[in-house]
This record gives sequence, structure tokens and C-alpha cells, in this order.
Amino acid sequence: MSLASVIRSEEILLLPTYDRHKILFEKGRGVYLWDSRGNRYLDFLSGIGVNALGHAHPAIQATLKRQAGRLIHVSNLFFHEYQAELAKRLTKISGLDRAFFCNSGTEAWEGALKLARIYARTRNTNGHKPKWRILALDNSFHGRTVGSLATTGQAKYRDPFVPLMPGVGFVRFNDVEDLKHQFDAGVCAICLETIQGEGGIRPVSPEFLQLARNLTESNDALLILDEIQCGLGRTGRHFAYQHYGVKPDIVTIAKPLAAGLPLGAILTTNRVAASMHPGMHGTTFGGGPLACAVAIEFLRELNKLLDHVSEVGGYFRAQLELLKAKHSCIREVRGMGLMLAMELDSSDKAKAVVSTLLKKRILINRTHETVLRFLPPYIIEENHVDEVIRALDSALTSDAPKQQRVQAVTRAQIRKRKEPQ
Ligand SMILES: Cc1ncc(COP(=O)(O)O)c(C=O)c1O
Repeated sequence: MSLASVIRSEEILLLPTYDRHKILFEKGRGVYLWDSRGNRYLDFLSGIGVNALGHAHPAIQATLKRQAGRLIHVSNLFFHEYQAELAKRLTKISGLDRAFFCNSGTEAWEGALKLARIYARTRNTNGHKPKWRILALDNSFHGRTVGSLATTGQAKYRDPFVPLMPGVGFVRFNDVEDLKHQFDAGVCAICLETIQGEGGIRPVSPEFLQLARNLTESNDALLILDEIQCGLGRTGRHFAYQHYGVKPDIVTIAKPLAAGLPLGAILTTNRVAASMHPGMHGTTFGGGPLACAVAIEFLRELNKLLDHVSEVGGYFRAQLELLKAKHSCIREVRGMGLMLAMELDSSDKAKAVVSTLLKKRILINRTHETVLRFLPPYIIEENHVDEVIRALDSALTSDAPKQQRVQAVTRAQIRKRKEPQ
């Protein structure tokens, strides 16, 4: 099938929800993708943070083949051998006690919100006053279903669908005074992304996160962290909150968990989990044997890659900083590990850079209008970073003709630097 005929068919057959780039991808291997014309692309987006091991990873392929031939689905009415094994590995790396498996990020987030409400109702620690308010953050993104939208702090996603779930307040990002002002005994949870992803790769400040932890802890409310984009190795640690020394009551994960198969999870403590009972929550597909077997394999591979993510991520960030020193249109470089961003001074410029890179067959994307987002697979090497930096340099130089050589920074120099916060 040609690209033109796929576009024509989609135009009349699908809901018009996506504004796709006009490329038809046919195969992938490692850090590269190939389109229907045989062009090769360097993938620095990994399906928005999903293909963390790159494409067609041999260990994932082998697990998929083996498990697809044995058992794909049984429903959650019965046992299979992989849910407990996967939960064991996830609880070990997160420091939490229990898991619930579902199919996507937004579904994990919905379940986390339900857990917060049922925990507050069960504990009833607030006398006769209701305890069901949720505090979320401005600029956040938690998904497209109704509860997730209700806690997403961006009007452009929420407004077309109001009225949404009531009881949600929005706190200004990283504003400790606003958090103190809005928190009271009626709040059952503070929820946030440890690093805002769609909102432009913005790490929560240590002061803000610590305050959120202290307020929730001392009021029997919950701290819920959305690590759907920033978790599972993306920052060089298993979870981004591990950079802060703060432990949440609930964490949600998804994107890379099953290396491209749909799988999300809620991780929580025994204390919180005790408020859930059979029948209160569930899913038909979530946590099936195929997705769970692949996720176990993903976690095995991830353990070998964490240091690499920190090192190559540090190298990448340092190169982006050098570009910033050279191009005045770059406002800021942000992020940790291989979750990085470069904010430009105009949305048109950011759009132009994404399309220039696409012409050079490099995939990145733009979020929050002015922010270039980089979520490459964890297996990239310095030479892939160099290629992207050269392409960015030349795309940005077409506006500002003064040429300067981007200075090389060695991996040894990067190791000496502190992990960026
Ligand atoms: C932080 C965060 N939370 C939730 C979601 C929603 O995940 P999904 O698209 O799998 O429903 C996303 C998706 O980009 C995300 O980045």
C-alpha cells in the first residue's frame, strides 16, 4: 500500500484526531526506522518514549515469539505465571509493595485517582468533613480520558469537554506558597509528574516535591507521581523520584514498560492497597501474559542500560548547552538523562527546526509550542547525539549565519559533572 492511498483511506475512515507527518513507516531496527520509500530515519523520539530499547530488539523479539505461541490472553478471572513475577520486579525497583496492571498511561492514572478517593473514604480521617479534593499542577498532562483530563492543568485539553470530574484544584507549577495556600484537610491527594513531559520537560523542584510529601504525610493524604513518561530508566534511574529522595504513595508507569505492547501499571503501598477490594477496579486486557512476559524481559535489559542512559544523556545535555551558548534563540536546555528539551524563543522557529530535521531524516518533536523534545531510545551512542547536534546547529544557523564550531565534550568530562536537576 502506498502512502498516498493510506492517507486517502484514513481521511474518510478514521476519527480526525491526528495530524500525522506524511511518512509511512514499514520497519525498524535499533535506533533507526525505514519508510515505504526505503529512507532511513534516526529515531530520537522512540514513539514518544515507548521504544526505549529501540526497534526489533532481539531479546524482546524472542520473548514475543515464545509467548505468542503459548498464551496471549486469559482475562483476569484466572492466574497466569507472569503478573506476580513482574510485580515482584517492579516493587523491588520502586520500593513500593503492590502493583495493578492495565493497558495505557491514562488508564493507570484513572486507577490512581480511584485509589486516592477510596483510601480517603476508607480512612475517614477528617471527621465528618468530606476529604476528596485533589490538587494537580498547572501545565500538567495525565492523559485523555475524563478523570485524567480533569487533572490535566492545560485548558486546551480540558475546555472542550467540560464539565469534567469535580473536586480538582490546580497549583502553580513549583510555587510552594500556592501549594501551602491551597492544601487543607479536605485534600485526599497531591498529584504531579516528577518531570512534566508534554508540558515542556520541566522537572518539579526538590522544595516543591518535599513540601507535597510533608503535607500529604502529615494529613493522611496521598502523594501520587505520574512517571508514565519520566519513569522506567528514562532519567538514568529506575524512577525519576529516586533523584529526589522522596517516596510516593502511588506511582503510575506505562510507555516503555512492555517495549511497545500496551501495558501500564499502578504501584502503591500495602497501606493504600488495603482500601481496594475485589470488584472495585479491573480490566479485561490489562496485565495479560504476552505483555507481562515482554515487560519482564524489558526490565532485565533496562538494568544493563541505566548507567549508559546517565552517561550518554549527560553528553547529549552538554552538547545542547553548547548550542545554547552559540544560538541566542535557545532560551533554555532542560531535563535529565535521556528526557531532554531545548526551549526556543518562538513557536514558528521550533516548528521549522522539527521539519528541517525531518528532512534530514531525524525524528524529534515539538511540545508546548516552543519546546523541542528529545526522547531517544536508551541504546543511542555519542555518534547519534553528534548527528542530531550537527543537524540542530545547521537548522538554527540558517537564521543566524555566524558560524562557530560546536566544541566537543568528552564522555570523561561529562562523568565529572553532576547529574542535572
Ligand atoms: C506524563 C503522562 N501521563 C499520562 C500520559 C497518558 O498516557 P497514554 O497516552 O498511554 O494514555 C502521558 C502520555 O503522553 C504522559 O506523558
